[in-house]
Amino acid sequence: MQPGHESVPMVEARGVVKVYRTGALEVPALQGVDLVIHRGEMVAVMGPSGCGKTTLLNCLSGLDDIDRGSVHVAGREITSMKDAERTAFRARSMGFIFQSYNLLPVLTAAENVELPLLVGGVDPRSARKRALEALASVGLRERADHKPTELSGGQQQRVTIARSLVNDPAIVWADEPTGNLDTKTGREVLDIMHRLNRERGQTYVIVTHDPALAATCDRIIHMESGLMEREEIPAKA
Ligand SMILES: Nc1ncnc2c1ncn2[C@@H]1O[C@H](COP(=O)(O)OP(=O)(O)O)[C@@H](O)[C@H]1O
Ligand SMILES: [Mg+2]
Repeated sequence: MQPGHESVPMVEARGVVKVYRTGALEVPALQGVDLVIHRGEMVAVMGPSGCGKTTLLNCLSGLDDIDRGSVHVAGREITSMKDAERTAFRARSMGFIFQSYNLLPVLTAAENVELPLLVGGVDPRSARKRALEALASVGLRERADHKPTELSGGQQQRVTIARSLVNDPAIVWADEPTGNLDTKTGREVLDIMHRLNRERGQTYVIVTHDPALAATCDRIIHMESGLMEREEIPAKA
């Protein structure tokens, strides 16, 4: 954890309730979540399938609306923002790494990485320069012109990491980022996230089923049935 930023939490969730409604069926996915995440912290979220981990990420990052409670990110209440404002806030301050890589298949690695910058109005020359730097920082500078199908799973996940850091976000949300990778490749991807956390002070919230990955984080949050069940500070070697 980076010292000196303890005063304003990166994320502050209070009484967050999320109910999915499909026809007459109601699924209470989050049942009153209270959670504070500090700047520069690396937090793992664990819990059985269906307990609400993905919903938590979607709700805390403002990708999805909540039914009750409040969410502040970097001191801003995102729940009361208008859609366009929230989208701009996400583009400026958040990165996303998902298990299914969400890369656009017709674009090269460099084009996938620079896309958020182009959408954000950065001029194409600087966008390309920053995309190539981001690819270099995950060891993929030579693969800049390759399309996703020409890359391995681990390389594709590194492209999504490059894309998540190209706008230098304050916080990165990662949903099972190593779920589709073999142990060695998963470890490499985790090492990159740790390095970016150290070097850039980026806050990471990582959903994982891997106890070894979770043990490398500053804190582990265990979820159960839409609630924070308990938290754990791993003893680091
Ligand atoms: N779009 C949706 N519509 C209805 N129910 C959903 C939707 N997404 C998730 N759920 C339900 O909400 C609960 C939490 O899901 P999820 O957050 O995906 O859990 P996890 O990521 O921990 O596996 C589950 O019961 C799931 O079936
Ligand atoms: Mg999930």
